[in-house]
Amino acid sequence: MKNILVIGSTGQIGSELTTELRKRYGGEHVVAGYIPGAEPKGELAEGGPSAIADVTNGEQMAAIVREYQIDTIYNLAALLSVVAEQKPRLAWKIGIDGLWNVLEVARENQCAVFTPSSIGSFGPNTPHELTPQDTIQRPKTIYGVSKVCTELLSDYYYTKYGVDTRSVRFPGLISYVTPPGGGTTDYAVDIFYAAVRGEKFVCPIAKGTRMDMMYMPDGLRAAIELMEANPDKLIHRNGFNVTAMSFPPEKIYAEIRKRVPDFKMVYEVDPLKQSIAESWPDSLDDSAAREEWGWRPNFGLATMTRDMLEKLSIKLLGKQ
Ligand code: SER
Repeated sequence: MKNILVIGSTGQIGSELTTELRKRYGGEHVVAGYIPGAEPKGELAEGGPSAIADVTNGEQMAAIVREYQIDTIYNLAALLSVVAEQKPRLAWKIGIDGLWNVLEVARENQCAVFTPSSIGSFGPNTPHELTPQDTIQRPKTIYGVSKVCTELLSDYYYTKYGVDTRSVRFPGLISYVTPPGGGTTDYAVDIFYAAVRGEKFVCPIAKGTRMDMMYMPDGLRAAIELMEANPDKLIHRNGFNVTAMSFPPEKIYAEIRKRVPDFKMVYEVDPLKQSIAESWPDSLDDSAAREEWGWRPNFGLATMTRDMLEKLSIKLLGKQ
């Protein structure tokens, strides 16, 4: 990777991935792509070049790729699961029509492409315990449908045209930097904001509902390490199961209470979020990622919780 374009650089993953890539490859080598209304600010705006890169506009992306001699594209443009259910046509337009544009630009300009898939690519009849790498993928959400198509279309461009496409199936990503918007796993971020602000947390996911999660530093490493992996070792490409932990709401609540003993949580289950959560795996088997490119998470529930509480306290309250 020499010159990189991050599409969706101001989003939940993009805002941190762009900064991490700039640390590794140099600020001038990483272009922060954004759409009007979501302009980069602060460190993201100052740390390197930025450009309007709308996935629905192939010519615009091609022009950026040529201008900056881009060889790697991180395509992070997507709507998350809950908001996609409210705007299915837009979810498709961004996730699939947009991906098609990205892959065409990559084919014409010999770029490698990373487009995240998700635990959302699984559905109710997928085996829920230690969900295998290769298994049934019949999701019921438009988010899931678009993620399965993302995996298939990315594989197709690899086998048909030799485009170097790679991806992981991200679990819920937990971070104190940019909040997610409209996902089913968002509660595992929101709970920390409530704990640090001293508020009662109203949990939209029912007790006992387990989902895979990952702390953002591990998520960034997963993306970058996969893109740097030796292609000869990759049996799979799009997309690898990766996970770091799996828990139900009561377990993360108990972990936070070890450090915030007065913290209160009540349940007010959101039917849409709950039905999506129940259709997703309880725990992923990520042995293919471990074997093919050496994936290992660094953070578990306890270490992630400690770091989140420390960092979020500084961010929200200016203290530890
Ligand atoms: N975090 C996503 C969501 O909840 C899943 O990948 O929609």
